[in-house]
Amino acid sequence: MGEPYPKLRATDLTRTFGRTPHTVDALGPLGLTVAAGEFVCVVGPSGCGKSTLLRIAAGLLRPSTGTLEIRTTSPHPVAMIFQDYGIYDWKTVQANVRFGLDVQRVPRREANARAADWLARLGLADFAHAYPATLSGGMRQRVAIARALAVEPELLLMDEPFAALDAQLRTILQDELLEITQALHTTTLFITHSLEEAIVLGDRVLVMSARPGRIIAERRPPFPRPRTGGIRSAPAFTALKGELWDLLRKEAVPA
Ligand SMILES: Nc1ncnc2c1ncn2[C@@H]1O[C@H](COP(=O)(O)OP(=O)(O)OP(=O)(O)O)[C@@H](O)[C@H]1O
Ligand SMILES: [Mg+2]
Repeated sequence: MGEPYPKLRATDLTRTFGRTPHTVDALGPLGLTVAAGEFVCVVGPSGCGKSTLLRIAAGLLRPSTGTLEIRTTSPHPVAMIFQDYGIYDWKTVQANVRFGLDVQRVPRREANARAADWLARLGLADFAHAYPATLSGGMRQRVAIARALAVEPELLLMDEPFAALDAQLRTILQDELLEITQALHTTTLFITHSLEEAIVLGDRVLVMSARPGRIIAERRPPFPRPRTGGIRSAPAFTALKGELWDLLRKEAVPA
């Protein structure tokens, strides 16, 4: 709120892969804004270009046409969390969480303190000196979240971060992420296949079409903030889930 420009703005964004005649139109044209402090969720059928969009936002991939602007003020403004965690197996949990701070040249003592703080918040304090290979999938994903949040990014990009987890753990981590991002007002662009996840977390839920993905619908979950996972049992929650599912089904199963 209060800031006149969005943190992220995509305009007429497209991405095509390959060379003619074997090109694949993966994305767009797509327009999208994410306001400061906003949590935007994107859902869409498999292969519609969601990861492509996030990789462009993270600067890992160029658009074919159009622009994606990120307006932030800090030197290391963006953090990304991948579905496969992206943590380093040869570094301890503590060193993984400290990684982004080391890159930012935060002094060692402060970096260790901040890493320890995030590990404690995510219930990993006892595992600071363990190696990721000895952790469960859910714990590894917590390490990835702690590492991303430790740098206090102005923009957090998440690509199906909970997809590999079982339903129970997924719910727990959704609730944790909800609490953290509400406390910090982290601007977040979050990709998921789970409509429930999108409704719990999002200020807005954007629905993408089948490939090449465009935004075909937008819904605002009618739950004021700060909200908790308790909204899952609200009738309005179930109704919105049904509505989004109908929109998605039309894309997933071409007429
Ligand atoms: N590096 C690449 N080279 C060629 N084609 C690619 C490349 N990356 C993605 N694609 C193609 O672009 C399309 C969109 O892929 P993308 O990974 O963005 O989909 P997605 O929406 O993230 O799918 P999922 O939900 O399954 O993760 C797919 O058809 C994919 O095959
Ligand atoms: Mg993907």
